[in-house]
Amino acid sequence: MKNFGLKKHMLSFTEWEKEFQNFQKASNTKIIGKNVILLPEIPSTNIYLKEHNELKHGTVVTAYEQLKGKGQKDRKWISKPGGLYLSIKLDILSTKNFSPFWITATVAIGFCKALNQIQLQPTIKWPNDLLLNGKKVAGILTETIMTNNSITAIIGIGLNVNNDLNEIITLFPDLQSKVTTLQHELQQSDLLHFSNILVSALEYIESTILTINFPDIDAIKNEWLEYADIEAKKVTIEKIDSHEIITGIVTKITDAGSLLIKTDLGKVEEFTSGEIKFIK
Ligand code: BTN
Repeated sequence: MKNFGLKKHMLSFTEWEKEFQNFQKASNTKIIGKNVILLPEIPSTNIYLKEHNELKHGTVVTAYEQLKGKGQKDRKWISKPGGLYLSIKLDILSTKNFSPFWITATVAIGFCKALNQIQLQPTIKWPNDLLLNGKKVAGILTETIMTNNSITAIIGIGLNVNNDLNEIITLFPDLQSKVTTLQHELQQSDLLHFSNILVSALEYIESTILTINFPDIDAIKNEWLEYADIEAKKVTIEKIDSHEIITGIVTKITDAGSLLIKTDLGKVEEFTSGEIKFIK
């Protein structure tokens, strides 16, 4: 195994492993995280789960470092030691044809609630980002394989915990003032230990997703809106492919997880993806 050395912005590999042991000791989950696979470095935890079909429902795969971390829309996810990179495999029994958006939304709510417990006030930026003070601290990438009566979901979460912000900004100057870490937002010089965040988030995710009536869209939508606070807000939305920018008021988030926006021209348009910004 590679010797990662010790920097101020990362737990040592052994300390990082200990966080997952502490999580397993403290967690009341019955399925998620009963099996945790800890790896020093791999391309991507989502890819690992897709390539290891034999791994069972509830398995968590985590890497100290990802060499090819994947973000939404084929973007890269910077995955140096210091962050939390994990994927969860869930077989969701469902004959209903629901949108995987509600899986992502539930995971986002779970992590928001966990961050509330350490006195942070995250917001959700549609569709899948967690922000602190307007800067991205986490992203979620849910990939699904659907059959007739079940969905296998591979849910990847990247959370900036102790990452070295200066290093990120030096490597990617465009991210200046767009990205943050938990350590930075808590203004703490000590390294942050994350087992309690995992316990809280994964317990919420299990108790919501692995229930017979999942997804209770109205209930999840209400919680999601408390963190996203987007309805009736004036926004611009940049279309991913054409980069066209539309201005309007968000009238609704639909049951499919798309946004309805009443544009300045008075027309209601539906968006399934896009880069959104609030206008005062
Ligand atoms: C995004 O905001 O674009 C989603 C980022 C998702 C990153 C996580 S890190 C763990 C898992 N493995 C990956 O390669 N991606 C997800």
